[in-house]
Amino acid sequence: MPGLRDYPVYVNNDGCGLAEKLADKLRGREVEAIVSRRIPSSARNVVCLGIAGGQSHDVAEATELNLDAFRTARNVAGTMEKEGGFFLTVQSTGGDFGLSGRAGHQVWSAGLAALAKTAAREWPRAFVKALDLDFSLSLETMAECICDELFGGGLEKEVGYLADGTRIAVGLAESGPKGEQEKGYDTLAPCDTVLVSGGARGVTADSLLALAKKKPLRFILLGRSSLTQEEEGLSGEEDEKQLTRLFSERALRLGESPAPPEIRKKVRALLAAREIRRTITQLKQAGSDACYLAVDITQEEALQRAVLPLREKWGAIRGLIHGAGVLADKRIKDKKDEQFQRIFSTKVKGFRNLLRLTEGDDLKLIACFSSAAAREGNIGQCDYAMANEIMNKVARQQKKARENALVKSFNWGPWEGGMVDAALKKHFASQGIALIPRIAGAEFFAEEACGANPREVEVVVGMARPGAASFMAGETREFRLHLVLEPGRNRFLEDHQIQDHRVVPMVLVNEWFHRLAQSLYPGLPVSHGEDLRVLKGVRIHQLDNDPRTLVIKGKAVRAEKEQGIRVHLQVEDPKGAAHYAGQFVLGKQAALMKPVDPPEHGGSTPWEMERARIYGDYLFHGPSFQVVRQLHSVHAAGGVGRLEWPSRKERDRDLDLATAPVLMDGGLQLARLWGYQYYRKPSLPMKIGRFCVSPKRQKEGPVHCQLTVLQQNKHKFVADLAFFNREQACFALMKQVEIYFYNTGL
Ligand SMILES: NC(=O)c1ccc[n+]([C@@H]2O[C@H](COP(=O)([O-])OP(=O)(O)OC[C@H]3O[C@@H](n4cnc5c(N)ncnc54)[C@H](OP(=O)(O)O)[C@@H]3O)[C@@H](O)[C@H]2O)c1
Repeated sequence: MPGLRDYPVYVNNDGCGLAEKLADKLRGREVEAIVSRRIPSSARNVVCLGIAGGQSHDVAEATELNLDAFRTARNVAGTMEKEGGFFLTVQSTGGDFGLSGRAGHQVWSAGLAALAKTAAREWPRAFVKALDLDFSLSLETMAECICDELFGGGLEKEVGYLADGTRIAVGLAESGPKGEQEKGYDTLAPCDTVLVSGGARGVTADSLLALAKKKPLRFILLGRSSLTQEEEGLSGEEDEKQLTRLFSERALRLGESPAPPEIRKKVRALLAAREIRRTITQLKQAGSDACYLAVDITQEEALQRAVLPLREKWGAIRGLIHGAGVLADKRIKDKKDEQFQRIFSTKVKGFRNLLRLTEGDDLKLIACFSSAAAREGNIGQCDYAMANEIMNKVARQQKKARENALVKSFNWGPWEGGMVDAALKKHFASQGIALIPRIAGAEFFAEEACGANPREVEVVVGMARPGAASFMAGETREFRLHLVLEPGRNRFLEDHQIQDHRVVPMVLVNEWFHRLAQSLYPGLPVSHGEDLRVLKGVRIHQLDNDPRTLVIKGKAVRAEKEQGIRVHLQVEDPKGAAHYAGQFVLGKQAALMKPVDPPEHGGSTPWEMERARIYGDYLFHGPSFQVVRQLHSVHAAGGVGRLEWPSRKERDRDLDLATAPVLMDGGLQLARLWGYQYYRKPSLPMKIGRFCVSPKRQKEGPVHCQLTVLQQNKHKFVADLAFFNREQACFALMKQVEIYFYNTGL
């Protein structure tokens, strides 16, 4: 995190001891940390804990954590917008942001991640991230995970730590093929009763109509608007402006002078009532039955009372669709508590009340009208995004609890209707964001509600891949991160000492670059890395245990040739002296591995180098890097060796990452051994021309590495390194690696 040591880190007092524990750990790492009930508005560095204290937490307490976090964010919003800083939210919804549906009551606190994603959009100068820690982790481990994230985390917006300590980042995946039918759940039968909040109007009404065309059902439609009578003489007029004019003229004729807002209210009530009647008529024409109840779903008792007579008439409720929602955009810093509550509770309290109402019903379908704002955050919509995110995750929990039910939470992008009025349409057009056509969106809903893709609970609909979309819309992406190396703590440094200096391994820089590029665009696959260069290695004397700050700078540009995105990256010291540079390209699926001849074991010349001496005399690597197991064959233009994944126990978490850095280092170690064999000199890699790794690879067992020397002289050699798994499939390639000899010193 940038500025970690430049300003105090404020941690809100969670009341369960985590805040104090974290503050102690930060102080132990020379960071000023302050635990405070109320974070001052001038705070630049904030850890916002949203974990309920003690054991007594319940749904209400968990829900309240969202409001607390919003207030904390609002307190510092002015500073974050103007000055920047970092803001880290911490929740405890299973370590996976509630994706597994096992977050218990805490699922009702899942809105924190969406607050972070919205804040990230509203505060472009600040570094914002959401963290989720599994509740079974000890406070000690939780504090450690938060520190790890502050000191060494990447650009991922949502990072979780599971019960076993595994670190995960959340991204989007392409949906499965459509029309996949599966057993194991019941679909709605003709004449089943379906309770629908917000179902009489807007895009939910469109969706119900498409569903009704597939099967006849009984719909109980809920909305706050009352079914006011049609005004005489106005029945042909649909346009809001015209109606306002007609209402004003009529009032004048009657000698009345109502204020414009009052007239607007009347017109809207008239239009709402017409829309409700139209929906009922259309549903009936499609063969279903429908009844409208004017009730506010946030009022639990009123809701129960209103629904009772129809439940008695039509029987148990079999489907629940939560389509009610309201919008009132305002940036975090300007939003009042009451405004937040209104938007938030329509979705959250409404859903809770609807679930309680149907607790005893054998539901076959639960569907929520959520929003892409929950996934991506949206300026002015922190309350809306948070509430929708909670619905997403409560839906997942419902799926766990009701195995036979079909449960869906649709994270819709903007539609061509409903709450997207003319002004919003214009805004989306200027952003290059396509709107979901009403017929297509409704048809999609109906298909899914009838069982297409039953396994996918939370679906994002109608948006291009987020990374690509924002890039294409011209959003520039540049970042500057601080990374703190902690000699004496980082095993990758301790186990990588040349003579009396720890040296940052090149493969680790490759991993940082890969991870940062990926986290900029979580929806896009990484194709390959290019031109990774050591400009001036980072070396730290073995007696020097002072933390060392590095700055990683990045800039994303269009990669025309690859039709994707190229991220330029550079590691510098705080004064701007460059240490490493490289690029990663994202876009298409990882570039297909160029076929390389499979390795030949036991080739013509056995590679005779005593195993015991490999890590004593030739290679300087400590235990976590000791992956060379056997040398097979060697010749003047290359060689083959066997590497092995280190055991779980030996493997440092830093080394078990996206690019398999420890194995890649094993390949570079083979190159160093080859250099000794033919030139009797130590050597070090200074450049990797191209790098690709398959995201699907085994993480265990033997790996064969083939070294092909392409050029050589007494100063340097250039080689390709190919890595093969147990099935002889090539899963990683380093091409055009430049390796330089040295005599003494570095
Ligand atoms: N349209 C989009 O582009 C879009 C995109 C993403 C997600 N969504 C979601 O899709 C759903 C429908 O959106 P829409 O565009 O169709 O909005 P809309 O036209 O404004 O309709 C919202 C519906 O919710 C009802 N409602 C609001 N508060 C309620 C309450 N407290 N109790 C009962 N009913 C309530 C409204 O009826 P009353 O006013 O009569 O109460 C209305 O029927 C919303 O949940 C929205 O978040 C829409």
